[in-house]
Amino acid sequence: MDVIHTVGELRARLRAVSSIALVPTMGNLHAGHIALVEEAVRRGKCVVASIFVNRLQFEPGGDFDRYPRTLAHDCEALAKAGCHVVFAPDENELYPEPQEILLVPPKSAEQLCGQFRPGHFQGVLTVVAKLFNIVAPHTAVFGRKDYQQLFVIRALVRQMGYPIEIVGVETKREPDGLALSSRNGYLSSEERAAAVRLSQNLKRIKGLVESGQRDFDALCASATADLTSAGWRVDYVAVRNQSGLAFPGPSDRDLVVLGGAWLGKTRLIDNLEFRA
Ligand code: PAJ
Repeated sequence: MDVIHTVGELRARLRAVSSIALVPTMGNLHAGHIALVEEAVRRGKCVVASIFVNRLQFEPGGDFDRYPRTLAHDCEALAKAGCHVVFAPDENELYPEPQEILLVPPKSAEQLCGQFRPGHFQGVLTVVAKLFNIVAPHTAVFGRKDYQQLFVIRALVRQMGYPIEIVGVETKREPDGLALSSRNGYLSSEERAAAVRLSQNLKRIKGLVESGQRDFDALCASATADLTSAGWRVDYVAVRNQSGLAFPGPSDRDLVVLGGAWLGKTRLIDNLEFRA
């Protein structure tokens, strides 16, 4: 496995490669990230994993500075998973001049996480487009854990004409149901024990909708109340249709319940897709 830090070396390494699968990450890799790499490997491509903590997608006062950087450990895990190339540029390499050209996210990105993280999806789309331009992959693999992110990246590919197949991989969870996340490392042991409450609430809403309830506002309000009473600060709990990430109409069957909430100083997100 090659570990490459510059755009020039990466382009030289990939020049003769005909089929590339890209797995963009911010590092501090866990089994969720590795599942994406394994999916890319299964597709029989030259697998490039990028590791870059993208300042543009962190809101001012966010956790950019304390975001864990663990390149040596990440490279070990990537090599084991069968990754061929790690692209780990520093900020100067990816943003050699102030990145004034930014992608404007679609309307669907203004709600849910986008409502509470101003500029976040602009930063995500800008760095992902830049990685697409640098790596020129045929396939790019993302996690369903970041459901709205995957949704806006699919829109990016459609609307900007990238010839890239986007693959979404199932969320990896701890045995108790907590979705794996680099941010779980911020949790104290008491918070870690309490953290499963978000996914439990989403599961409960999923079950109730599957059994015929369609008063989404009431279901989400009761989940918000449950989390709040347990000490969480809830950004949102919402049911949306999968096709447009819009409030479901009577004929919408393919749904997703999503939540974003703070446990202490840590913001967790999760979602569950279902048909009802
Ligand atoms: P990061 O949070 O490092 O996540 C990288 C990829 O791993 C994303 O596609 C994310 O959805 C996926 N992922 C994270 N946790 C997962 C889990 N438990 N199960 C399955 N997949 C999981 O998402 C980003 O970085 C950045 O926004 C990025 C796309 C790299 C742009 O900077």
